[in-house]
Amino acid sequence: MSKIIVTGGLGYIGSHTVVNLLEDGFDVVIVDDLSNSQHDILRRIETITGKQPEFLQLDISVRDNVMSVLRRHSDADAIIHFAASKAVGESVENPLLYYRNNLNSMIFLLEGMQETGIPNMVFSSSCTVYGQPDKLPVTESTPFRPAESPYGNTKQICEEIIRDVCNANKNIQAIALRYFNPVGAHDSHLIGELPRGVPNNLVPYITQTAAGILPELRIFGDDYDTPDGTPVRDYIHVVDLAIAHRVALRRLLDRRQKNNYEYFNLGTGNGYTVLEVVKAFEKATGVQLRYRIVARRPGDVEKIWADTTLANRELGWKAERSLHDMMKSAWEWQLHLRDHPELLGS
Ligand code: NAD
Ligand code: UD1
Repeated sequence: MSKIIVTGGLGYIGSHTVVNLLEDGFDVVIVDDLSNSQHDILRRIETITGKQPEFLQLDISVRDNVMSVLRRHSDADAIIHFAASKAVGESVENPLLYYRNNLNSMIFLLEGMQETGIPNMVFSSSCTVYGQPDKLPVTESTPFRPAESPYGNTKQICEEIIRDVCNANKNIQAIALRYFNPVGAHDSHLIGELPRGVPNNLVPYITQTAAGILPELRIFGDDYDTPDGTPVRDYIHVVDLAIAHRVALRRLLDRRQKNNYEYFNLGTGNGYTVLEVVKAFEKATGVQLRYRIVARRPGDVEKIWADTTLANRELGWKAERSLHDMMKSAWEWQLHLRDHPELLGS
């Protein structure tokens, strides 16, 4: 049985991936400091899968913690590295927090892999590395633009660090996955996104408005060069994303890579405007949403969606779930959270 260390495995995307790995027979060790998740998510993963992954509550931006985990599990076949700080606005206010957490954890994990011989890593990157591209959809060869935020910069730098380490050490194999906009939740409604405070991202904002927690959705600008003037994104269901991690992992374990460092766009390949998302939500749930157009949000790109040809061809993976599915599952998760507010902490 292959053993996989999953950093950030109790977080939003990590927990869905852990479920998928356990269901596929992988032995999973979760490392999470609970800075943006809850211990209860572990119990929920166990309820869904009937399996008990090992859990270590540790901060992986501390070198000794990383070394102790990797030495103890030096027989692991791979690391999936989700753990990071991810709030764009917070990264602008407190850049050092982001550089310390996201870069230290990457450096220490790679050092630990070199020392212990753990050969494989899957890394959570983001479409934010592209900024606003000239040509759409974006392919993996679209050049990076200067990052819009310290958070985005950490993703660019992490990819560069992996690339250089893989160049220097052919025993290390890595795949970076550039997620577009992950939304939705697991079919069990037991795990999903846990936004702290007022959400920044569109879909949690929509579901909290529909639930009456927030008074109205503010749509940031309707004067963009898009079909209805609101920005376009490529929303992808988190379960489709989780499956892509398992597929990428298999590629690493089976040594099917073309190079020891590869990177893939993970989206559906479809772009939707904010107003189209609002309409899809209303149609999927029957709930009318209160919204108002306000000024543009600084730093927003106008439109971006993925060319997923490379992931489709090389990974043999394709996102299956529609925007309708995403809205329905996000809403069902919101209804579950209404009954379990303790999950969101104080
Ligand atoms: P999340 O915050 O839900 O999950 C991250 C998990 O990592 C949390 O459980 C948190 O407690 C843990 N963590 C953070 N710092 C840690 C540390 N130093 N040591 C141990 N654990 C730590 O976030 P997510 O949405 O699941 O994102 C996972 C990854 O995907 C992140 O790297 C994020 O930057 C990336 N990503 C997310 C999105 C998105 O929209 N959610 C988009 C693109 C990329
Ligand atoms: C944002 C981050 C990105 C990060 C991603 C996932 C920025 C500039 N980018 O992407 O780096 O990887 O989150 O965490 O912050 N919108 C509204 N009203 C709202 C919220 C959002 O109209 O209340 C609009 C936005 O203007 C945008 C779209 O909805 O056009 C999606 O926004 P969001 O969910 O925040 O994701 P991104 O901005 O694409």
